[in-house]
Amino acid sequence: MEDPIKRRNRGPTWPLDSRIESLRGPPSQSDRFQRFCLALRGLPIGPINGPKNTLGHFKSQMLAPQRKALPIASVASRIVEEVKNNDTLIIVGETGSGKTTQLPQFLFDAGLCSDGKVIGITQPRRVAAVSVAKRVAEECGVELGQRVGYSIRFDDVTSNSTRIKYMTDGLLLREALLDPFLSRYCVIIIDEAHERTVHTDVLLGLLKNVQNARSKYATTEYDHSKKDSLSEKGCNGLRQTKLLTCQDTKLAPLKLVIMSASLDARVFSRYFGGAKAVHVQGRLYPVEILYTYHPEPDYVDAALITIFQIHLNECSGDVLVFLTGQEEIEFVERRIKEGTDQLPDEKKNVVVVPIYSSLPSEQQMKVFKPAPSGFRKVILATNVAETSVTIPGIKYVVDPGLVKVRCYNPVTGVESLIVIPTSKAQALQRSGRAGREGPGKCFRLYPESEFAKLRDSIIPEIKRCNISNVVLQLRALGIKDILGFDFIDKPPRMAVVKSLEQLLLLGALTKDYELSDPVGYQMAQIPLDPLYSKALILAREFNCLEEMLIVVAMLSVESIFYIPHEKLEKAKVAMRCFSSPEGDHTTLINVYRASKEVLDKSRAAGGDEKMAERGLSKWCKENFINKRSLKHARDVHSQVHGYVKQMGFAVTSCGDDMLQFRRCLAASFFLNVALRQPDGTFRALGSNQTVRIHPSSVLFRSKAECVIFNELVRTNQNYLRNVTSVDPLWLPELAPHYFSLREP
Ligand code: CDP
Ligand code: MG
Repeated sequence: MEDPIKRRNRGPTWPLDSRIESLRGPPSQSDRFQRFCLALRGLPIGPINGPKNTLGHFKSQMLAPQRKALPIASVASRIVEEVKNNDTLIIVGETGSGKTTQLPQFLFDAGLCSDGKVIGITQPRRVAAVSVAKRVAEECGVELGQRVGYSIRFDDVTSNSTRIKYMTDGLLLREALLDPFLSRYCVIIIDEAHERTVHTDVLLGLLKNVQNARSKYATTEYDHSKKDSLSEKGCNGLRQTKLLTCQDTKLAPLKLVIMSASLDARVFSRYFGGAKAVHVQGRLYPVEILYTYHPEPDYVDAALITIFQIHLNECSGDVLVFLTGQEEIEFVERRIKEGTDQLPDEKKNVVVVPIYSSLPSEQQMKVFKPAPSGFRKVILATNVAETSVTIPGIKYVVDPGLVKVRCYNPVTGVESLIVIPTSKAQALQRSGRAGREGPGKCFRLYPESEFAKLRDSIIPEIKRCNISNVVLQLRALGIKDILGFDFIDKPPRMAVVKSLEQLLLLGALTKDYELSDPVGYQMAQIPLDPLYSKALILAREFNCLEEMLIVVAMLSVESIFYIPHEKLEKAKVAMRCFSSPEGDHTTLINVYRASKEVLDKSRAAGGDEKMAERGLSKWCKENFINKRSLKHARDVHSQVHGYVKQMGFAVTSCGDDMLQFRRCLAASFFLNVALRQPDGTFRALGSNQTVRIHPSSVLFRSKAECVIFNELVRTNQNYLRNVTSVDPLWLPELAPHYFSLREP
């Protein structure tokens, strides 16, 4: 793929290495940033203009001129016409041109929801759904949750009057389970389609079916008593008979809009039978691309140095740094703060804001707030900021050229998160973030020669992830032939086979691969990984649903413990208060309960919520707990608690009977069992791989013979995380269909 920005600006290499060399001799790896900070103290620092604030709390009228200036505004009426004239329309436009925020408003204003129907817009990420909904509500001058709302897993801010509804693609997929014709929607906009998430890909297939079915039945009254139901025509729903009665008898045709930031719309157009594609010309200022002289041995270190070089040498403007995950972001956040402390007072004008998908929504919103006057904002983001969210004020982009992706090996059944180079399209998107409001600079932390070696675009997620959840949902939608489903890109046959096998072993499917009743239906209703939903269902039988709810919530968030390298020993002592000899699952329960006690105590003492939260923050700090993760886990807990209550499950506790709880863990996670080998390593039974217990686990140095685990991470070797010891003799008893006792 051609890189127009690069063609325009054959960039010089910035003084990343030369600066260090001139200050302190040749660069070494890990302590390079430390030395850089020391060097900063003696640096002659020139004046720097404070960055200007680009976004304030504008209300509707104040935002109107901004809206009018967006590239999409000039073609509004043409786009509305195209949507009216085409059942399926593909819109391609550069990030920031106004697709996500404006198009739904144009369609609403043009009267497309006049019959009380809803315009649904899907996003691959929660953060985008929430932030855009808030912005659009502001632009419309309405309260969020009224005309404009959002719905994401564990958080629904919509009402009967909602007409423009932002949601995650996964959520719409779940809605299809309950309303197979998506009868509430008149238009569905699949946004960020170029990201090709599993949910987007599955939705595209499903929507194609729904669209066909709705056009077919649009003109004829549908007779529910007829045997010839839509379910048999390939557009199905969970418990079809019950659901069909909720359907309108007359359904208007469904309009589809596929939006993508990638210029290659052909793949979508072809998939939708030659659907029309239109291009919204964006406004992009020139972005100077700079590469390093040499490959960087430590990109985090290189990123830190670059951030400070920008802060000290470049004129005003915010910095967007692409990192690979929460832990890395938090590490860099701390190092920037430490580095800033060493700067002279007049240079301490830096605010750091993180943004990544698992960050609680209200924290994510901080990224959109302008920095205080005279300050420079440094945004540390995962690829969420590539296209999904438009953050104003960015002039500099730091791009190490890496992205963390989920990768699944269907042969071994091992799913791992791995860090891989970005594609050219992603690199281009990232650099484009710097040129939204004026000329910018993008610092790619790799040599120019590496760019040519990048693949053109990303591999669709469906080709590289565990699709058990998708298969379960498709089965719940009544789709029998998974491999025959009209995917835009088919998942590997082996992945489908493995998923079916896993669902069969979990009891979600019957021997005939039908959804089992009630387990399969129940599992399909809980928006969690099938292993976790099964664990909740089993926990009810084992009388430990209270404990399992906590575990599932705590396992759904990134690392609960936050262990700074320099305070490792102190953190370990603090962690010991929660450690449970049985393993990490009970340890997580201890943490959750202890945090709840802190909150409850503060409330009982008459403190208000703010005081309780402050108390919790202090407690988290003292105990090396990641407050953000804990807060997120509390949210997930309360939502999943709601789900299981709705399903009529009684939430009971096994009390001190941890044996019972561990038996339940064994019954739930029997697919993830590892046995100790004579050499001290473990062998994961499912994948037959040699693994070790991760040093962060409470069982790291234990003598456990047999463990269940929830995560197999691959770094330099295979590590098990979230591990609990179980008795191997339980396995044939609790999962006889999987383990049979071998005859001696
Ligand atoms: O979808 P697309 O990338 O084409 O653009 P958009 O998300 O609709 O954003 C259009 C403009 O709205 C951006 O350039 C931002 O100036 C503004 N915006 C914002 O200020 N805050 C948001 N949460 C979203 C958008
Ligand atoms: Mg957008």
